[in-house]
Amino acid sequence: MERFFAILRWQLGCTLGGAAPEVNMSIVPRAGNGKITVPDIIRRKNPAGDSISSESGQNSRQRITCLTAYDYPTARLLDEAGVDILLVGDSLGMAVLGYENTLPVTAEEMLHHVRAVRRGTHHALLVADMPFGTFHVSLEDTLRHALQLVKHGGAEAVKIEGGEKRLELIARLVEAEIPVMAHVGLTPQSVLELGGFRVQGKTSEAAARLVRDAHAVEAAGAFSVVLESIPREIAARITRELRIPTIGIGAGPDCDGQVLVLHDLIGLSLDGVPKFARRYASVGAEIARAAREFCNDVRSGNFPSDAESFHAPQPASGRPKTQVY
Ligand code: KIV
Repeated sequence: MERFFAILRWQLGCTLGGAAPEVNMSIVPRAGNGKITVPDIIRRKNPAGDSISSESGQNSRQRITCLTAYDYPTARLLDEAGVDILLVGDSLGMAVLGYENTLPVTAEEMLHHVRAVRRGTHHALLVADMPFGTFHVSLEDTLRHALQLVKHGGAEAVKIEGGEKRLELIARLVEAEIPVMAHVGLTPQSVLELGGFRVQGKTSEAAARLVRDAHAVEAAGAFSVVLESIPREIAARITRELRIPTIGIGAGPDCDGQVLVLHDLIGLSLDGVPKFARRYASVGAEIARAAREFCNDVRSGNFPSDAESFHAPQPASGRPKTQVY
């Protein structure tokens, strides 16, 4: 029913005041221990509860932080560092699985990584990407894949690429109590259609389409929307006009939040870093240095040392120490 009204409202052109979720929705209960929920993320847009275009609404908002995570240790580190949203993006295909683009990522691979990230995430909101092919067959198939990520992966929301053309899908998922983060602008799963990864929304027609896409996903009930690789002016306009938070990546500083691929941020992207990413660490260089030093030490006989070895029990010295850690 909700789906029917979302689509009807959109078709009638009533995008503002449409089906966007309200902050009093109860999808994930507040644990009261700093756990970030979907309503918390929506509330960030307008903490004072006043008109989002008012001065106070814009100034008092706390920007949302989102990073990708693909495994248990990084999830734990990012969660403990206070990141608001951990996204198991299908960028995992390129960042950790060595694929050329995100298209080969399967539902099984995604589920495997979501479960690992779940085990390391206690405070952040956990969002799982829906890989290419998992929402292209039918509404029922989409729902089945999304339920899998929530029920067996522990995801608290799913992300879907695409704007107006996903209206029905998003509404169907929301109707099934699965919160949806939308994703418009450069959608990497469209690489075959786009012919490459390019900045989107550069002509006035393309910009108008983008704005329409953003309104459509809000009307369908998405709780937030990723804006990827679009001019900052368009992102600022969308951010002003929507009631749900915008989370930018290559979309300038005016969005309600920012997301980056972790590997770009820590210097672990081996094939270059996009213009919009900022590198905060050189973890790749550190890993290579540690591996080189290990090889040198083994080859020179410097590793392991006597202190790093176990010893046979000494009859006179009491109980032998057998602890490994
Ligand atoms: O797959 C991903 O990591 C993403 C983010 C970059 C938004 O879609």
